[in-house]
Amino acid sequence: MLDADGLLRAVAAGRQRNTLVPFRRVELRYVELRSGLHLQVSSYDDRQAHIRNVGLGAEAEREVDTLLAGGYANWHLETAAGPVDIRVTKKGRWLLHRGPGREPGDAPDRPEGWGTRPRDRTHDRAHDRVKRRRLDESDPLFRELGITTDDGVVKPTRTAKFRQVQDLLAAVDPLIDKAVDARADGVTSERPLQVVDLGCGNAYLTFGLVRYLEAVKGLPARVVGVDIKPAARAHNSEVAERLGLGDVVDFVEGSINDAQVPVAPDMVVALHACDTATDDALARAVRWQAPVVVAAPCCHHDIARQLRGVEPPDGYRLLTRHGILRERFADVLTDALRAAILRLVGYRCDVVEFVDSRHTPRNALIRAVRTGAAPRPADVEAYRLLVDAWHVHPALAALLAPDLAALPVDRPGLQC
Ligand SMILES: C[S@@+](CC[C@H](N)C(=O)[O-])C[C@H]1O[C@@H](n2cnc3c(N)ncnc32)[C@H](O)[C@@H]1O
Repeated sequence: MLDADGLLRAVAAGRQRNTLVPFRRVELRYVELRSGLHLQVSSYDDRQAHIRNVGLGAEAEREVDTLLAGGYANWHLETAAGPVDIRVTKKGRWLLHRGPGREPGDAPDRPEGWGTRPRDRTHDRAHDRVKRRRLDESDPLFRELGITTDDGVVKPTRTAKFRQVQDLLAAVDPLIDKAVDARADGVTSERPLQVVDLGCGNAYLTFGLVRYLEAVKGLPARVVGVDIKPAARAHNSEVAERLGLGDVVDFVEGSINDAQVPVAPDMVVALHACDTATDDALARAVRWQAPVVVAAPCCHHDIARQLRGVEPPDGYRLLTRHGILRERFADVLTDALRAAILRLVGYRCDVVEFVDSRHTPRNALIRAVRTGAAPRPADVEAYRLLVDAWHVHPALAALLAPDLAALPVDRPGLQC
């Protein structure tokens, strides 16, 4: 357990005869924090997880010794060399069983794409770190949200939701690092990372992000969820209390455009906000000059509606002839224009798939990092040519009209 390279995770559960244990389950794993590698200790009672990060060396040794002497009856370790199980019998004997080591190409013992498991003895440490970056299915959050059973097993009917949360977190992970890097004064308990989720709905993903920041990244954070529905605030605040997250996450009732948010965020998230609500969220993030923006667009009715009444450019009529294809093309055009506009106003931007389309067709993720750089004339021109050719007026361009009007252009007529 003290081998930071070899251990993927260790889980203690159950209690030895005639002993009481303070937690239902304790989990150890190594996490890379800004201040270096730490041993993360997650202790779960019936209501919530208590997370601590302890330094390597003597501190980690003390922690492991205390846990081993703490009365737990079963230990399960996943290590680079294979699984190790320890059981303490009723008579107090310790039985240790090593499972077979794994070879490259061995079948995974969990569904592909999540969970922590060694699949290749020759793997490197960085690779394992990536594999470890998942929110464990035993996290109390999933039980509270009805995604897992009381035993921490994902319900078959909730697999898609579980998968969506995990995949989103994996796609957002590098952006969290960028948001931390953008903080000149660093992230500390006194100056936590500030995240705003615009259009948070029932907050599955907001809570997933909160727990991920806390349990996996070990980052002090404050998260504010905004939604226009009053019921969302009431319901989500209750869930936050039940999860013991009342002092980490707040919910605000209001519109994406102007809801009161206490501080300008380090990171803005907008997941499946309906139609042009995604544009509202991107524009708000730009106005905040948020260092990092992550948006998963939802339906794209606005540009689809505009395309219905326009004459396509020469040679492209077939793209919009059939309703279904026109709508798909509108999706692509809308998000291409959103990414282009973000580039024009000082963001580096990419668009990636964050979850398999089997789980949701709304699976594109716009990820933007603020650089403050002036756009290249070629980017201004490419944007202008596209909107002119299709005669469309992107909602985001209207919201950011002053920023776009101020852009330098080197050809007359190419004003945004
Ligand atoms: C499809 S749900 C997505 C919820 C959540 N982000 C998720 O991905 O599970 C969209 C949410 O955005 C909210 N919403 C839409 N337009 C909004 C606006 N202009 N201001 C605030 N909330 C808005 C809706 O009330 C709804 O709860």
